[in-house]
Amino acid sequence: MGLRAARSAWTGLLVVLALLMSSVKEHDFKKCDQSGFCKRNRAYADTATAESSRWQSPYNVQPASVSFKDGQLHAVIKKTINNNGDTVNLPITVSFLQSGNARVTVDEERRQKQDIELRHDSKIRKERYNEAGDWVLVGGLELDKNAKISHQDDTQINIQYGKDGNLEAAIKYSPLVIDFRRAGASHVRFNDRGFLNMEHWRPKIEKIEKPEGEVEGQEAALEERSAEDESTWWEETFGGNTDSKPRGPESLALDISFLGYEHVFGIPEHTGSLSLKQTRGGNGNHDEPYRMYNSDVFEYILDSPMTLYGSIPFMQAHRKDSTVGVFWLNAAETWVDIVKSKAASNPLTLGKTGKINTETHWISESGLLDVFVFLGPTPQDLTRTYGELTGYSAMPQEFAVGYHQCRWNYISDDDVKDVDRKMDKFKIPYDVIWLDIEYLDDRKYFTWDPHSFTDPTGMGKQLEDHSRQLVVIIDPHIKKLEGYPIYDQLSSQDLAVYDKEGKVYEGWCWPGSSNWIDCFNPKAIEWWKSLYKYDNFKGTLENTFIWNDMNEPSVFNGPETTMPKDNIHFGQWEHRDVHNINGLTFHNATFQALKTRKKGELRRPFVLTRSFYSGSQRLGAMWTGDNQATWEHLAASIPMVLNQGISGFPFAGADVGGFFGNPSKDLMARWYQAGAFYPFFRGHAHIDSRRREPYLLGEPYTGILTQALRLRYALLPSWYTAFFHANRDGSPIVRPMYWTHPSEESGFAVDDQLFVGSTGILVKPIVEENRFSTDIFIPDNEVYYDYTTYNKLSTQQGKRITVAAAIDQIPMLMRGGHVFARRDIPRRSSKAMRFDDYTLVVTVSKTGAAEGELYADDGDSFEHEKGQYIYRRFSLTMDGMTSTDAEGRNAKSVKAGEWLKAQSQVHVDKIIIVGASAAWNRKEVEIESEGKTRSVQVDYHAESSGQAAFAVVGRVGAKIGSDWKITLA
Ligand code: NOJ
Repeated sequence: MGLRAARSAWTGLLVVLALLMSSVKEHDFKKCDQSGFCKRNRAYADTATAESSRWQSPYNVQPASVSFKDGQLHAVIKKTINNNGDTVNLPITVSFLQSGNARVTVDEERRQKQDIELRHDSKIRKERYNEAGDWVLVGGLELDKNAKISHQDDTQINIQYGKDGNLEAAIKYSPLVIDFRRAGASHVRFNDRGFLNMEHWRPKIEKIEKPEGEVEGQEAALEERSAEDESTWWEETFGGNTDSKPRGPESLALDISFLGYEHVFGIPEHTGSLSLKQTRGGNGNHDEPYRMYNSDVFEYILDSPMTLYGSIPFMQAHRKDSTVGVFWLNAAETWVDIVKSKAASNPLTLGKTGKINTETHWISESGLLDVFVFLGPTPQDLTRTYGELTGYSAMPQEFAVGYHQCRWNYISDDDVKDVDRKMDKFKIPYDVIWLDIEYLDDRKYFTWDPHSFTDPTGMGKQLEDHSRQLVVIIDPHIKKLEGYPIYDQLSSQDLAVYDKEGKVYEGWCWPGSSNWIDCFNPKAIEWWKSLYKYDNFKGTLENTFIWNDMNEPSVFNGPETTMPKDNIHFGQWEHRDVHNINGLTFHNATFQALKTRKKGELRRPFVLTRSFYSGSQRLGAMWTGDNQATWEHLAASIPMVLNQGISGFPFAGADVGGFFGNPSKDLMARWYQAGAFYPFFRGHAHIDSRRREPYLLGEPYTGILTQALRLRYALLPSWYTAFFHANRDGSPIVRPMYWTHPSEESGFAVDDQLFVGSTGILVKPIVEENRFSTDIFIPDNEVYYDYTTYNKLSTQQGKRITVAAAIDQIPMLMRGGHVFARRDIPRRSSKAMRFDDYTLVVTVSKTGAAEGELYADDGDSFEHEKGQYIYRRFSLTMDGMTSTDAEGRNAKSVKAGEWLKAQSQVHVDKIIIVGASAAWNRKEVEIESEGKTRSVQVDYHAESSGQAAFAVVGRVGAKIGSDWKITLA
């Protein structure tokens, strides 16, 4: 067989495999009762619930062990393990942090001391995994040294903490219950229902067929344990794979009650509503817990608690005027049950409480019990302090906020160049074109197919000439092929993941038989960095960026399409312990690699990842994986993207057009209109789907898509400002109603519309076929204007208003009281717009005022960290309008670098004041800037037939970076 023939046989096999994979459905992934530890903990919870008042949680704090100093409480929990009263020790630490958050960590003494025996001659670590924090946490851990004991007796200790000392943790000893209070009222409670469970280490007692009495002690030990069902303690088999579990059962679980809270949000990645559903059955509820076990779920289903590609175990509970939450820092497989119950009248839950409690049950397979508690009281407090812990999303490459054109696959460098030219021909803006796995030679990363990508440099240069970028895919599996230098280096330098026997783990993925780089290993990261140097990765240029896919990791022949849990990583940790951060470690290695491609080149990386965990937001963008070209998937993308935003990883989007299948033209139109409001906006399609670049659709559809794309591009300054806010304080880039309006109860469950940053732009994309109008929920009593017509809408708080939405219309309102920036000249890419003048849109509030911000920097380097940025605050009052430095910086305090200098050529062109008062009804206004006063023309339009009065001030001519003032007096 010739090389070509062999290759196509290979490809054939892979296509078959891929087809088989595409029929992977729910039953290929575990349900709770197929996952031993989940089943055991649910059963434990059932027993506790059934026995109710008779149930005694066997976890008791030893009063004598309690010590408190410098914001930290240490104690030992004794877990009673049998009827004889034998106990095991579980050291607990409660840390009170300056941020106002508290952290509870529980370990197991015996494993901590490595005083356990491993089965199967395993050489793995004996401790509970305790390094998740090293990967995930970047700050916010300073202890609150002012925290103090507010009460202590033989039965409990109370610690008072928080900025104003208005927070309290009441730790009851027997059984252990921790009650977190704000201003005297209980909000979050641990072990209220007694589901706390840390499976302590115990040896497997093998039944040995010997005459009675010969095996000393065996009989008694067996008898004692006879009551327990050990069937899921040791080896577990699922889908033909057996997990050897060398440490036996080691799960941990805890019930966490949110008292008086009806809504809980977060814990992505799942499909379904933003407000999470109950999971213990009943009408409209799920039957299964929400699962977090990063997986490559082909053809995922909608409205499901099934796991997807990434996990963020951060949950917020919300009620009118109060948000609290928890962050469950554990990298192993995790399940979360949610039930809601009628709140009992509780003397401790003083003041305003809801009528419902949300009771959650968190279950992880291994590792430490490590939970952060947030007491709010606002959603902003939660997103900010969660970001302090896990990091804020990185300032993006500016181009990454533009539109990305992708498919599996552009088949040659000529194809890429052709698409690039056609986008220009049709005047369709885009910033990045992407290459999926077919650009490779035989699926070997860091190579180019020698037949179809003969001149990658030429391709890259054309893109560069057109101010555009290229993204190429690099996955973590490395083709097992001697002579392929990457494979040879991986093996000779010993940088791959091992199997349970200590041999290099081998599995199947796109290249066939593969090994996996182990990015937990610092040496592997160093090696990975070396591969991206321009000299090594030939054909890449400065405008080449990276896409990391399949990093859950996806293994076609592995259990649940991933690695066996008993695989071994650097440091002798089992894959079981680290599974959910595996994707983050690979993403991190690539991020580091892009930072060091060339000495002296200091540019922001752009790396898209499919798998993620808390902290991944520091490294790039994510997308929601392999969705389908259906209306239902389009609809599902909105709450998914919103959920990413409130969960600290806002640079998120879904495949526009849908990955699998062929969208109708209407669906394409609506998807581009929705995609224009995803923070990450990329069209992508499966290899078997028909070509669907925007210019192929024909009119009117090409025009409709172009219009949506141009809208995105016009608003880029505002999007970039929203990214900046996310980077500064963790604010979501697109925001759900409960986050912007935490007092408006009727909006808490609304998850099909969004605000763009702080612009006041409220959008409800159409996600249904043949729907040409929609009802937008109005969260407050402010005035709202239609984005295009400036019609003043008659709105009412908590009500819906109907707006028209022909196929070329996006339901889009502007809330009164905001100022946002646009760039109105259509161009081919974001880079081409960099020095264009701005239009400011002002939407006047009911009280006649408006405020807004603009942030801009070079969109590429780290110079902004040295003050090379423009950050303006615009303010409109009855008296006029001003632009001032948002931080009160003195322009002269920063020595302008190249970009900042060039900004002196960039001006405010127009100011459009929607809802302008009669004071603007004049021919001109005076603008004062840089010590000079000039007259500027005003074009005033009085209110007429529904349209608000508006004024267009232009050409303003003030420098964007300078202070200016328009006085109406
Ligand atoms: C799976 C990814 O989710 C998809 O976007 C990609 O096209 C294929 N892998 C091929 O690389």
